[in-house]
Amino acid sequence: MTEDGFHIELLGDHDRATFCSGVDALDRYFRERVTQDIRRRVSNCFVLLDAEKEVAGYYTFAAASIPLGELPESLAKRLPRYPSLPAGLIGRLAVDRDYQRQGLGALLVVDAVARAMRAEPAIYALVVDAKDDHAAAFYTRLGFRSFLSQPSRLFIPISEIAKRLCKSIFRGSEGQSTARDRITGRYRRGPTMSTAPRTLESAAVIILMTALIYAAG
Ligand SMILES: CC(C)(COP(=O)(O)OP(=O)(O)OC[C@H]1O[C@@H](n2cnc3c(N)ncnc32)[C@H](O)[C@@H]1OP(=O)(O)O)[C@@H](O)C(=O)NCCC(=O)NCCS
Repeated sequence: MTEDGFHIELLGDHDRATFCSGVDALDRYFRERVTQDIRRRVSNCFVLLDAEKEVAGYYTFAAASIPLGELPESLAKRLPRYPSLPAGLIGRLAVDRDYQRQGLGALLVVDAVARAMRAEPAIYALVVDAKDDHAAAFYTRLGFRSFLSQPSRLFIPISEIAKRLCKSIFRGSEGQSTARDRITGRYRRGPTMSTAPRTLESAAVIILMTALIYAAG
């Protein structure tokens, strides 16, 4: 849990009625269909709860595979010639309108990376379906790349996203504070980031570090 009181857990008996991401299909799925998918074991769902235990975001997670031919040659040539590779599919991901653009969508992706790293069956990459250009821009910003034949389906190898996240968390990009500043609470965001969620970054560090320690055995 972060100091802001955010917490990610498996969907259980949470109130799903008031969640509103602004995308009707994602909101309706969460209200009406997600529990059926969980019951049938075709998907899991993780929810991000705020301090009042209201759902601030969710994502679904399921096993998937990537046909080797969908990867760029530069990646494929470094992999065994299996017809497909194991993946974790983020089928749906949404953040409540009240919480968008505060780093929570990225935090949900970090959580999926950590779960993929801890999974017992090996997972090579995360896969997502971007439902529109905004979603594609969000995932591209995090380093995802399109499948060769399906531009709206994107992937990122776990090793690559873990490395990117560690770099951005621990080095900070130019002009930003260091991770230590952020963790110790001296991190300042620009004036456009309304709620300065520095504790979310600390949460991302904890989630990832736990996964890295776990992966290292
Ligand atoms: C898309 C969505 C999940 C992003 O979540 P969020 O919490 O608003 O995004 P974050 O604040 O974590 O943003 C992470 C990064 O992506 C960027 N980003 C977020 N939304 C973006 C958008 N629409 N276009 C371009 N970049 C975007 C942010 O600027 C940030 O980059 P930065 O760290 O360099 O500033 C959220 O806006 C949402 O739920 N939208 C409606 C549902 C939806 O479209 N879901 C995608 C399903 S495929």
